[in-house]
Amino acid sequence: MCADLIGQTILGQFRVDAFIASGGMGAVYRVWDLKRNVSLAMKVLHADLADDPSIIKRFKREANALRKLAHPNIVPFYGLYQTSDFAFLLERYVDGPSLKDILRKRQGKPLPLEEVLTYLKAISAALGYAHANGVVHCDVKPGNVMIDKGGNIYLTDFGIARHSESTTTTLSTVGTAAYMAPEQIRGEAVCPATDIYALGVTLYEMLTGQRPFKGDEKQTESSGSTANERIRFGHLTLSPPDPRNLNPVLPDGIIYAVLKALNKNPQQRYQSANRLFEAFCNSIDVNPESLPERAMDVNGLWIPGREIEQTNAMLTGLPRRRAISGIIIGFSLIIIVILFILRQPKINIYLQDRIEDASSTSLYEVSPIKTTVMPILQVTETLIIQSTNTTINVPVYEKTNTPFLIDTPTTINDSLAVLNSKPPGKIAYTCEVSRDDNIYDQICIVNADGTGQRQLTNTEGSSLYPTISSDGNHIVFISNMSGDHAIYDMDLSSGKTIPLTPVLGEPTSPSISPNDNLIAFANKRDNVMSLYIMNRDGSNIHDIFSGGGAYPSWSPDSSQLSFFSSDGSIYVIDVNGSNPHPLSFSSNLGSRSSWSPDGNYIAIFQGVKPSRQIFLINTNGVIAQQVTTIGDNLSPAFSPDGNWIGFLCYPEGYQSTKQGEICVIKKDGSDLQVLTHNSLLDWLPYWGP
Ligand SMILES: Nc1ncnc2c1ncn2[C@@H]1O[C@H](COP(=O)(O)OP(=O)(O)OP(=O)(O)O)[C@@H](O)[C@H]1O
Ligand SMILES: [Mg+2]
Repeated sequence: MCADLIGQTILGQFRVDAFIASGGMGAVYRVWDLKRNVSLAMKVLHADLADDPSIIKRFKREANALRKLAHPNIVPFYGLYQTSDFAFLLERYVDGPSLKDILRKRQGKPLPLEEVLTYLKAISAALGYAHANGVVHCDVKPGNVMIDKGGNIYLTDFGIARHSESTTTTLSTVGTAAYMAPEQIRGEAVCPATDIYALGVTLYEMLTGQRPFKGDEKQTESSGSTANERIRFGHLTLSPPDPRNLNPVLPDGIIYAVLKALNKNPQQRYQSANRLFEAFCNSIDVNPESLPERAMDVNGLWIPGREIEQTNAMLTGLPRRRAISGIIIGFSLIIIVILFILRQPKINIYLQDRIEDASSTSLYEVSPIKTTVMPILQVTETLIIQSTNTTINVPVYEKTNTPFLIDTPTTINDSLAVLNSKPPGKIAYTCEVSRDDNIYDQICIVNADGTGQRQLTNTEGSSLYPTISSDGNHIVFISNMSGDHAIYDMDLSSGKTIPLTPVLGEPTSPSISPNDNLIAFANKRDNVMSLYIMNRDGSNIHDIFSGGGAYPSWSPDSSQLSFFSSDGSIYVIDVNGSNPHPLSFSSNLGSRSSWSPDGNYIAIFQGVKPSRQIFLINTNGVIAQQVTTIGDNLSPAFSPDGNWIGFLCYPEGYQSTKQGEICVIKKDGSDLQVLTHNSLLDWLPYWGP
């Protein structure tokens, strides 16, 4: 540990706040990123690693691949940096213990089986994803499994061991060998099965409280003078001791699965992490789906290991799988394999660098790196504010002969459009309006077939981000008409507008829930963006997520929200603030998403100016379909019937001289129509009935 690093600001950006631990590669510090306003973990590389330019060069090359690994069970990696004195890695700071810490606390006692399965589910998901993306971890071990305060389980330190091991210098702390596969010890090529072996050792340790080879075995006595040498010998030549000697209650199937993972021959091991996980579940007749995603009990509390006496109870209490015929299982497996194969190129399309370009979104400025995700379940007291009920009458301008008015939708290109198709409902959007030589944002509305275009507000300052209630009678929007930004509600039949909130900070992008009970919105206070929820009348304002929240979009049952987090990914969260998880990452991911009314898709946009495109992703984050193909298209909003998508379009591709319009397109990518035509920007469409 370099005590003198604490308090220093590295590269003008990373203030070193605390020393965390000394690990295999070097010292780990918690740093505060002054640019992104988040805590990160800084791993300073041992001098002997950092001084070898070939290692740094190779690592830098791989750092790009590692940065692209984006999975709910992988700690996001932010790259390799170098100062004149040392090199360091940056990754998201995880505010909880490692599995190593948890096992240490158990003092040699095994973990309950349910907990082992929960960790296995998360680790095998992370490894399956990494392997599918061509990355072998090479250092799977409890020290590289981290659990945050929300119980989320992450694998970290991908690819690092490869570099650590390749150094010619002897690093006493690197590669304790305890989790290393025989082929890795022999210096042969690594493959996914190398990680399966290390996972097997980790499982063995969780299930028995001991590692299979400790270097104190009689047979290893003459194999070396150091423990590491003797452990290596064990991995290369000895059979692992029967786990039942250490934990007699372990079921046979589990023992078989662990020992298969520990086969000396990589070809004889499970060929995927998921196979290993399935084997665990099958052997004790547990439905993999029913296992928790996080290290939590039913009350949502983190439990760092219960007493071993409960193992049998845990086993009988585990959810049982219904008897399914072999034919159905076989058939499902074929489908899974086909889906898996089909999925691969799509993942590749989707995963792009997440650091460099998250700020490229032109619609809303967000800092590109997410803070530690900590769902705030309790209401923030200072923000429980009753709505004021003051009524402000805002005139509704029904404008004729304005540049906004068009009667028939026009199309970008005849070959792409089917003109006789009339999209239903109406689209509220933000329209720029020129007044007194200034440009102001105001709220406009247009029938989705392009008729009846009108300006709804003509407020002081700006009014923007309209959302329409599910009965189509109200518009909720943001305005600074009274000085500071607040959320307003307009009754469309009377034009009466009331503020729903007092001054909050910088609220943006409100969205009314489909059941019309709640409003979700993003709010920036003290430079931190959070996702907020309040009742439809503006009461009970509270935040449910810190570190993002822009453009919340409701699931059709009003139970979940998708939103844009500060690290440039789309997150999904339960409305009570629990279970926040990233759906997809991409540096070129747009900020606004929209949930389809059938709940099956989330429309997103991604790509680089001037040709960003709209895509549909599944609710598991995989691209299902590309919707638009030409022009520059942003900010999708599903129609209430789920057949159409409204969006901000630059039909000929983005040009700074030409302002965006509101377009609609059928979900299948046909029938593209441009609804607005004027020289100012029309943006942020929201589709109502
Ligand atoms: N992203 C992180 N956020 C917070 N703490 C971390 C993070 N990564 C590592 N740590 C802490 O730092 C410690 C050292 O990490 P490091 O990766 O250097 O070694 P390790 O994985 O524990 O391996 P070894 O057993 O070789 O020391 C970890 O045990 C953990 O407590
Ligand atoms: Mg580590």
